[in-house]
Amino acid sequence: LTVALICGGVSSERDVSLAGGKMIQAALDPARYRVLRYDSRTDLARLVQEAPGIDTAFVNLHGVHGEDGTIQGLLDLLGVPYQCSGVLGSALAMNKLAAKRVYQQAGLPVPPYRVVSENRDADGSFLDAHADALGFPLVVKPACGGSSIGMSIVKQVSELAPAVDKALAHGPDVLLEAYIQGRELTGGVIGNDDPEPLPVVEIIPGDGYGFFDYEAKYTPGATSEICPAPVPEDLSARVRDYACRAHSALFCKGYSRTDMIATDTDLFVLETNTIPGMGPTSLLPLAAKAAGMAFGDLLDRLISLSLE
Ligand code: DAL
Ligand code: MG
Repeated sequence: LTVALICGGVSSERDVSLAGGKMIQAALDPARYRVLRYDSRTDLARLVQEAPGIDTAFVNLHGVHGEDGTIQGLLDLLGVPYQCSGVLGSALAMNKLAAKRVYQQAGLPVPPYRVVSENRDADGSFLDAHADALGFPLVVKPACGGSSIGMSIVKQVSELAPAVDKALAHGPDVLLEAYIQGRELTGGVIGNDDPEPLPVVEIIPGDGYGFFDYEAKYTPGATSEICPAPVPEDLSARVRDYACRAHSALFCKGYSRTDMIATDTDLFVLETNTIPGMGPTSLLPLAAKAAGMAFGDLLDRLISLSLE
């Protein structure tokens, strides 16, 4: 099979994409696959030109113009199948606000939130009203982003406007979310319309990392990722159930990974990644491994799902 491996791209998660791309290229069995590499930042014209000879694409892009449905639309136009969600699922999941509305519609609990847009009051007065409604600490993040880039945890009102400005640098809509103190869990799933859950991963940021931020995510050893998560079976079952329901509700295909947070009594859905990280410290490959699926087997499975 001729596989177009697309990575790099233009988003703030470019380096994450390239790191995963390297792992993927190394793990694709040369006896089965001829791999053609494209960086969507520079090689789109070549991709279009060569599309007739491509059997399927492995899109390992994160964030805007990669995980948001745009490149998926181009591949649809070219008639090239791919391993990830289509235009609709990608676009819905990428926008954390749209995704929240879908989760709520599907009966999946989300932390209380507010939305702030670019054209907010010049004096920021309704930021204060949001803060009153949500309380501190609260999480401020770009509606469309990933890897915690542009995200802040705000502990007092004086930090709020700067945090919103920082998030606005990444896009016109910003989410303010109540900060939930709890255990960080993530549920990976594999499948198209009938997804199968992988074992749950628990993420424990190491000392000095207040939350699972960019550094904590990608510095080897900065965070412990434990799989299967050492949580009671009923909680783990709930994470797997929510992950499957989120995948289906958002019209995802191939695979996805839904991040959640558990308190003693509640489980909240935070976001769904339609192209989960595939780098050396990434969570979905870890979960697949715990399910007995080596990295190469995971890639084989995703490629075969892309052709279904
Ligand atoms: N957005 C990164 C790549 C992840 O969730 O794995
Ligand atoms: Mg993400």
